[in-house]
Amino acid sequence: MANELSGKLAGQVDKSRLPRHIAIIMDGNGRWATKRGLPRTAGHKAGAETFRKIATYCKNLGVQYLTVYAFSTENWKRSETEVGAIMALLKKYLLEAIDSMEKDSIRLKFFGDMTPITPELRALARETDGITKHLDRRDFQANICLNYGGRDEILRAARRFAADCAAGIRKPEDLDEAGFSGYLDSAGIPDPELIIRPSGELRLSNFLLWQSAYSEFYCTDTLWPDFDEGEINRAVAAYQKRDRRFGGVK
Ligand code: IPE
Ligand code: IPE
Ligand code: MG
Repeated sequence: MANELSGKLAGQVDKSRLPRHIAIIMDGNGRWATKRGLPRTAGHKAGAETFRKIATYCKNLGVQYLTVYAFSTENWKRSETEVGAIMALLKKYLLEAIDSMEKDSIRLKFFGDMTPITPELRALARETDGITKHLDRRDFQANICLNYGGRDEILRAARRFAADCAAGIRKPEDLDEAGFSGYLDSAGIPDPELIIRPSGELRLSNFLLWQSAYSEFYCTDTLWPDFDEGEINRAVAAYQKRDRRFGGVK
């Protein structure tokens, strides 16, 4: 990988100005499968492999956080077969990840409401959280959004803040943006500088609503299972050409 990075693949990326945090809406699995005459679940399987490849690439590139949208609060509308297949793939991935997290120094965290997730998957997520806590905070961290919705995350944060107020720990008038961020699933993690959406859709679909306030967007027609290192390079290179003003004047 080191050779690959110093060679053609990293060509257009300035490694001294990388985003610290990249977020990806892993979309297009279903269409990828349908195009091949395969069931949608085959697309999710291919998409899970792509996640593994892209996470490794982001880590080796020097990005510190990668947040991926794996299953939204709205995705329960899909068939039981499809939802079951996605959950089974997550279980398989977590079992393999638990074996290799320490060796590869990869930290894994879940964003989302885990209450409706099966106890088995929840236990695996707790196990990965435990390993994450032992690892160095400077190690690469992948955040997996599971039963995640940006609105739901904000609601859950507001409820917890209200409960702290009722308990006398916090006062409503003391709440500021940094304080509220601390109640979100992403507490302690910088906002993503770059959000990538594959598959040609131009919407957020309830992803990171609070955190995306000043993110740069990169959309491409490539379907998620076809995503590769070159696509990440193109997205990062495009990000590096943006003029980020944050409401100011240069
Ligand atoms: C993204 O791919 C994965 C999930 C939403 C779980 P899709 O399954 O949405 O793929 P398309 O958009 O139907 O092609
Ligand atoms: C967003 O994709 C959710 C994930 C990728 C997990 P969707 O396929 O669910 O979004 P819409 O329905 O096209 O907005
Ligand atoms: Mg989709």
